[in-house]
Amino acid sequence: MTVDPDRPSGPTTTVVVMGVSGTGKTTVAEHLVERLGWPFAEGDTFHPPANVAKMHAGTPLDDDDRWPWLQALADWIGAREAAGENAVVTCSALKRSYREVLRAGHPSVWFAHVHTSPDVLRERVTLRAGHYMPPSLLDSQLATLEPLEPDEPGLTITGEGRPDDVAEQVLEALAAEHRVG
Ligand SMILES: Nc1ncnc2c1ncn2[C@@H]1O[C@H](COP(=O)(O)OP(=O)(O)OP(=O)(O)O)[C@@H](O)[C@H]1O
Ligand SMILES: [Mg+2]
Repeated sequence: MTVDPDRPSGPTTTVVVMGVSGTGKTTVAEHLVERLGWPFAEGDTFHPPANVAKMHAGTPLDDDDRWPWLQALADWIGAREAAGENAVVTCSALKRSYREVLRAGHPSVWFAHVHTSPDVLRERVTLRAGHYMPPSLLDSQLATLEPLEPDEPGLTITGEGRPDDVAEQVLEALAAEHRVG
């Protein structure tokens, strides 16, 4: 058997920061990237234009809209794995079936479910300016959310602390699982 010197020597980690709109995915992910220096992908940017138009119009996406979006993000994760790179990704990943798309064939995937109470969420999305997600979509997000389950890789954390504290919880869990040095 020959050994390819360019082949990654060990398993990599892709932290998928998940949860409903306004829970702080982007905020937490930015803190993680600052601390870890890992490549970063904002899941929202993988939506095809038709999905963006629907969201602008305040129309909830259906699952047929979501599969190509999730697959595009999964492909990006696969490319990082193939390059032997760790990564940080944001993706609402509200249903277990969506998370399965991201995980399929990608052992690096590790979910950080940022969980915030509905009242705090409403306040955040109402205060937030210049964002394409109308506050009215929050209720459908909350109704759709299937929380991360114990047999899925990752952890659930509260998004109600300070952003750097939320990120710190993620980093501690990653260290405990020997996914960061
Ligand atoms: N831990 C926190 N404490 C207080 N405010 C926060 C916290 N995390 C995020 N915010 C604020 O809440 C708003 C939503 O945060 P953010 O954009 O990170 O959420 P998101 O989950 O990425 O949302 P979306 O799914 O719509 O992209 C922002 O105005 C952000 O500054
Ligand atoms: Mg975001």
